[in-house]
Amino acid sequence: MPDGREVKTFTLTNCNGLKARVTEWGAILVSMEVPDLQGNLADLTLGFDDLAGWMKNPAYFGATVGRFGNRIAHGKFSLDGKNYSLATNNEPSGIPCHLHGGVRGFDQVLWCGQQTASGVEFSYFSPAGEEGYPGNLQIKVTYSLTDQNELIWQAEATTDAPTIINIVQHTYWNLSGDPSHSIENHEMQIFADAFLPTDAGMIPTGKLAGVTGTAMDFQNPRKIGEAINADELPLTIARGYDHCWVFPAREAMRQAARVTEASSGRVMEVFTNQPGVHFYTGNFLDGSAIGKYGIAYPFRSGFCLETENFPDAPNHSHFPSAVLRPGEIYQHKTIYQFSLL
Ligand code: BGC
Repeated sequence: MPDGREVKTFTLTNCNGLKARVTEWGAILVSMEVPDLQGNLADLTLGFDDLAGWMKNPAYFGATVGRFGNRIAHGKFSLDGKNYSLATNNEPSGIPCHLHGGVRGFDQVLWCGQQTASGVEFSYFSPAGEEGYPGNLQIKVTYSLTDQNELIWQAEATTDAPTIINIVQHTYWNLSGDPSHSIENHEMQIFADAFLPTDAGMIPTGKLAGVTGTAMDFQNPRKIGEAINADELPLTIARGYDHCWVFPAREAMRQAARVTEASSGRVMEVFTNQPGVHFYTGNFLDGSAIGKYGIAYPFRSGFCLETENFPDAPNHSHFPSAVLRPGEIYQHKTIYQFSLL
């Protein structure tokens, strides 16, 4: 790093030749190489070739995002009768809000990584007051790669004072392995019958809307591009998909999504213990970020499936609680499983 600190990167492999690279900077997934039907490996993730790129990373490629993933209206919330103001770093409609942990979120800090028997463990201590959050937070994020072709990402945290939390994995995927093209011909299935509509500032209105029969309906597999340009309010606000889909019930572990890409034959399934998944289609990519292999990532060249608690949950008492109290352990587990058609 410019200040002389060293950043370690780790490589995970499995018996089928899959290869994941992760780094202490931002507890980021740097790359994920997966074979296609012909057995050719390709990197399915967007990102950068060097640390200088990752140290800017305005789109949060590959990052572990926190303390609170996605948006908090005005950067404000109250907890146990006290009001808190968080750093604001985003304003989709001209009204500032808090996005992905603030100005210097978990994606922009140096974690401490160590190899373990099953993968890599990153730890980070977030002091009380960081980006405006109460409570000293101790966080552990682990990545492991199994011989069943599962990349398992887990986040755990404890606090010494009540705080709010929603740690999110923010990798952009392009299963073709060629992110110079849009992801619109991938087929997406999301195992949810409702989503959270937002206002123009991309903050949930608090309502839950059914997806059936709308452009938001991915209950059956459907090309991402099939309805992405439909003249429906959620899509016109976000210029594509950028919403939290809500699962019918909270389960220990459940399937969130299944994505397929016909030309490569690659399949990715996502499983999680969280109540929702944010499906984002890279609508803010515009070719200005030069990424790995010198590719300027065009509009919609990657999609994210960010398993999460609901955006702005601290300001909606009927949303699942995002509060973490002393003595409790925050636990988020997500599995990305790869296979072939
Ligand atoms: C959000 C988008 C945001 C993007 C930042 C996503 O998780 O939902 O609205 O622009 O992250 O890259």
